[in-house]
Amino acid sequence: MTLTKNLRSAFTEKRVEEYLYALLPRRDAVLAEMEGYAARHEVPIIGPAVARLLSLQVAVSGARRIFEMGSAIGYSTIWLARAAGPRAEVHYTDGDPANAARASKYFRRAGVAARIRVHTGNALTLLKKASGKFDLIFCDVNKDQYPAALRAALPKLRRGGLFLADNTLWSGKAARAVPRKDVSTRGIQEFNRLVYKSKDLFAVLLPLRDGFTVCRKL
Ligand SMILES: C[S@@+](CC[C@H](N)C(=O)[O-])C[C@H]1O[C@@H](n2cnc3c(N)ncnc32)[C@H](O)[C@@H]1O
Repeated sequence: MTLTKNLRSAFTEKRVEEYLYALLPRRDAVLAEMEGYAARHEVPIIGPAVARLLSLQVAVSGARRIFEMGSAIGYSTIWLARAAGPRAEVHYTDGDPANAARASKYFRRAGVAARIRVHTGNALTLLKKASGKFDLIFCDVNKDQYPAALRAALPKLRRGGLFLADNTLWSGKAARAVPRKDVSTRGIQEFNRLVYKSKDLFAVLLPLRDGFTVCRKL
């Protein structure tokens, strides 16, 4: 596949990254169309390399009840729903109703609409209001909100459940001193400190694409 601009890592050597993406199996027509749409409209989707990691986490953990914070056009939601199988309950959330409408159409075409509940609004509020606990929560909201998203998610995650987050190296800026006004980088830095020092989590930050963090609730 062509490694489009919206999927490029800012810190991985270009040749290594192109090699990695060239290894990836082709996606079906719906996912391929979504990747094309995201590239043309600069929608910041996780892309197929990180999506496979997301899918693997669902499969090995056996997660069925899943909450996604920040779903955009639903690309990552489809990977979650397919990996979790026909008995899954996957909650899509996004603040933009136009995204939710577009995502709903893709869900029908991908054959997973029955396992996805679409919510429009603030993902943190929606998660706090949701009933019961989740097996897996995936965080991909605005980066300044990551510490608050983590605080909202922890009480809603079952023990042994997974909390996953994308963009945790944030173009490599997470490793640099940044001005106070760079609230996105500051949010990511605070989030990274929180997950590694938390006594309730076991965290690993993987330098795949823009950084992806996997945490297990203890
Ligand atoms: C990085 S994109 C999500 C991409 C998606 N997870 C994927 O990989 O296909 C972030 C999305 O989160 C939404 N968003 C940001 N902060 C939010 C919040 N607090 N509540 C709900 N949606 C939010 C934005 O509208 C945007 O569509």
